[in-house]
Amino acid sequence: MENKILEIHSKYLEKIKQANSLALLDEIFLSLFGKNGEITLIPKDFGKLTKDEVVRISPQFNQIKVELEQLIEQRREEVREEKYSKLTSDTIDITKEAQIDLPKGQIHPITQLEHEVVELFSKIGFQQYQAPHIDTDNYNFELLNIPAGHPARDLWDTLYLEEKFDNLDEGKLLLRTHTSNAQVRLMREAGAPVRMMIIDRCFRYENLDARHEHTLEQFELVYVDKTVNMANLQYLSEYFLKAIFGKETRVRLRPKYYPFVEPGAGVDGECLFCKGKGCKICGGTGWLELAGAGMIHPQVLRNGGINPNEYTGIAWGFGPERMAMLKYEISDIRVFKSGDLKALGGIK
Ligand code: DAH
Repeated sequence: MENKILEIHSKYLEKIKQANSLALLDEIFLSLFGKNGEITLIPKDFGKLTKDEVVRISPQFNQIKVELEQLIEQRREEVREEKYSKLTSDTIDITKEAQIDLPKGQIHPITQLEHEVVELFSKIGFQQYQAPHIDTDNYNFELLNIPAGHPARDLWDTLYLEEKFDNLDEGKLLLRTHTSNAQVRLMREAGAPVRMMIIDRCFRYENLDARHEHTLEQFELVYVDKTVNMANLQYLSEYFLKAIFGKETRVRLRPKYYPFVEPGAGVDGECLFCKGKGCKICGGTGWLELAGAGMIHPQVLRNGGINPNEYTGIAWGFGPERMAMLKYEISDIRVFKSGDLKALGGIK
């Protein structure tokens, strides 16, 4: 019996010393002190010993038992500390590429373009502004010189909401057809002078095809100050299109009618595909229409609480999808909202 106890002692002294994980120490503990553990079983044989032997052996046994128990606990502490100091001293290079071969995602091309736009125009003092997606026909149409029954309403295929709200005395609710619904709101909020941009969603009741979507993005710009004029519009259009399509890109303004600008203009970029020579994509003209724009109509300024005798303004509305289609050579606008990762992920 004595020998057996000494054997257990020396065997486990070594085992405990070498154990380098908490799991291993748990295992050792169980094989010593578990239900059938080597230490647990020893006192069961005490009955076979003489009284003298029991008096001699049991204190020795108890001492070894306590010692082994303490050694396990001590070793547990050491293992915990080793683990912790390894964790705190180890450095992880988070810039290192993952070794696993995961498919790489990328930012949606429209979002990329929008980030570029925001950066470009923040640099020259334009702030981002947000207007509601669900708005009244007052802000979307009336205050922009497009009263009910005006033929210009035909330009915007509109989705109306049926809900009626008692406290709403500003007209019917609709999904805004353009970001121009922000114009009067922001003038009323910020007053003049003001430089704002809105890049956001609009909605139209469209027959869908390769060039028409029911949900589309617009990039609206509003710039009101004392001497703002058409030259600023030409300059900003060039600043914008050259940054997006390249320094060589030529830009022209062409007369065009919108009820909320006077004079109104279309902003054309030189056709990227034929470099102005005329091709199928630009209908042989050498130019692509990219935006509606103009000098903000005096009545619209007045609606926004700005005195048109003191201030003038320019505004435009570009179509980011249209621009991305040209930039990335995408022939169908529906790709952008398709969730087709092959098409969207493959665009550089
Ligand atoms: N809101 C117009 C549209 O959706 C585009 C537009 C035209 C915006 C002229 C403007 C503007 O700010 O001045 O077709």
